[in-house]
Amino acid sequence: MPSTLDQSFVTNSVWKPDIFKGKVVFVTGGAGTICRVQAEALILLGANAAIIGRNKEKTDKAAAELSQLRPDAKVISCIVDVREVSQLVEAAAKTVRELGRIDYVIAGAAGNFLCDFNHLSSNAFKSVIAIDLLGSYNTIKATFPELRKNKGAIIFVSATLHYYGVPFQIHVGAAKAGVDALSNALAVELGPLGIRSNVIAPGPIEGTEGLERLVKDRAKTISQVPLQRLGTTRDIAEATVYLFSPAASFINGTVAVVDGASWQTGSGVGDLYPVTIKHQNEDPGSKL
Ligand code: COA
Repeated sequence: MPSTLDQSFVTNSVWKPDIFKGKVVFVTGGAGTICRVQAEALILLGANAAIIGRNKEKTDKAAAELSQLRPDAKVISCIVDVREVSQLVEAAAKTVRELGRIDYVIAGAAGNFLCDFNHLSSNAFKSVIAIDLLGSYNTIKATFPELRKNKGAIIFVSATLHYYGVPFQIHVGAAKAGVDALSNALAVELGPLGIRSNVIAPGPIEGTEGLERLVKDRAKTISQVPLQRLGTTRDIAEATVYLFSPAASFINGTVAVVDGASWQTGSGVGDLYPVTIKHQNEDPGSKL
């Protein structure tokens, strides 16, 4: 997949070239739609990167493509299941060996599917909690020595769907609420070490699996976004650059909602709501 951003980002964005020169970012989910573009922006502005993913082919390919973004860019791939902290510890060690350090961490690896409560098994719920929440915890646990040494910064990629009740997303809502709580507590505990922790909560972002799954009627969705457009992966990348940049040096323990005020309209429930009633009532559901 070609990169979304290119050299023109360096000239037409508001950011100074080279603001991340000499810095290294560790990105879980970095081969996925949103986190990849976050990595692209940081690399274009001078950073080197470790791309962490579960699928070897996809992760290796993304890292190879990302390394083309800047002539001297170094981008490595690490094949990891974020549910296994030992694999993340190994990935962090490889990053330090090959790139020298870790300054920034993006905890973005996530799993998701739409499923109503009646059909959601306990193991399905646990799988998403394990990837999204435990995986985020493990990511920080594994990179903490480097974050401490370098007075680094963390961004968790969360969501807005736990701000209200979104049907078919019980598992993800619970996991992302936990991610937000994790970030807040880390901001307070690690602040005295000079480490900042913040959350980015993307809204309806064009080209993502989440949007494809949730949105049936594109025009209606757009009409429900106060800014009257869908978000782009670049919108998330811009927020990422801001939060890691010195401009945000006093920003800690916040959630940057990048959704055009979408969730304020309550539109995340979308067309799913009445369907829930049918699914819960008319079917025996899943095994436990
Ligand atoms: N609906 C209901 N239950 C589902 C499901 C779905 N669409 N997909 C998975 N599950 C359940 C499985 O049935 C299993 O539960 P069970 O043992 O009770 O049957 C449990 O979740 C674990 O499934 P498994 O496939 O073994 O998990 P995994 O750990 O390999 O992967 C996901 C979990 C979430 C990553 C996987 O479901 C997935 O690939 N999702 C779509 C891709 C994706 O998440 N992309 C990221 C977008 S943010």
